[in-house]
Amino acid sequence: MTQSDHAIMPRHVVIIMDGNGRWAKKRGLPRIAGHKAGVNSLRKIVQQCAKNNIGVLTVYAFSSENWKRPETEVSHLLKLFISSLQKEIDDLHKNNVNLRFIGDCTAFPQSLQASINAAHELTRDNIGLKLNVAINYGGRWDITEASKKIATDIKSGELAVEQVDEKFMASLMCLSDLPEPDLFIRTGGERRISNFLLWQIAYTELYFCDCLWPDFDESEFEIALQWFASRERRFGGITEQVENAGRP
Ligand code: IPE
Ligand code: IPE
Ligand code: MG
Repeated sequence: MTQSDHAIMPRHVVIIMDGNGRWAKKRGLPRIAGHKAGVNSLRKIVQQCAKNNIGVLTVYAFSSENWKRPETEVSHLLKLFISSLQKEIDDLHKNNVNLRFIGDCTAFPQSLQASINAAHELTRDNIGLKLNVAINYGGRWDITEASKKIATDIKSGELAVEQVDEKFMASLMCLSDLPEPDLFIRTGGERRISNFLLWQIAYTELYFCDCLWPDFDESEFEIALQWFASRERRFGGITEQVENAGRP
């Protein structure tokens, strides 16, 4: 990328890592082989984010709807989460990655919850890339949790209805301490959000590509970044305002 492209690098990239199952099927392999190959793609993209000085990467690893999958696939996936975490955590830590999980982790087996907590503890003071992994996450769940908190606080008298505005609502949502997502990437050919960060992506640039996640590499990521650099983000305004103000 050129120097000027770097000026319009996203601060926060979110990715729906889709297409693992189809990647495996094309090769006559079981679906879990696709998920395993997907971990390798994630490792590469984490490295690319750090290299490009992208501050935050949030990836969708397991949606609140993915429990609908056959039990064997779900249990293989949970095992893969644990083994990948154990395998990758030292390198992530060495590379100064700050690792966090979002979603309702209470639904997971104790062993996975323990690995998640340990990884969080180990990397909490790291000041490099912030990597958020969404597991048992749903955008509707996120909004519902925030609404429940508001209802409870109003009921107890700690909060007045008048205090509830968009800023307050946003402060209760996952990732509220981070810049809003600039670039959304979905691999695997589907053009849908599948209940990912519904609130947070209100003004995010949406990039869809047909490449299956295990095939998504540095050059595919570079294409997405170039596409992002070419977007004009108006946030409800008009072109002339963007030209005068530069980047928000
Ligand atoms: C995404 O790949 C990974 C998870 C949902 C865990 P898929 O497993 O959805 O792959 P396809 O869409 O069936 O190819
Ligand atoms: C979205 O992919 C969830 C993840 C990538 C973790 P899905 O494959 O579950 O989404 P749908 O079912 O095609 O919408
Ligand atoms: Mg899929």
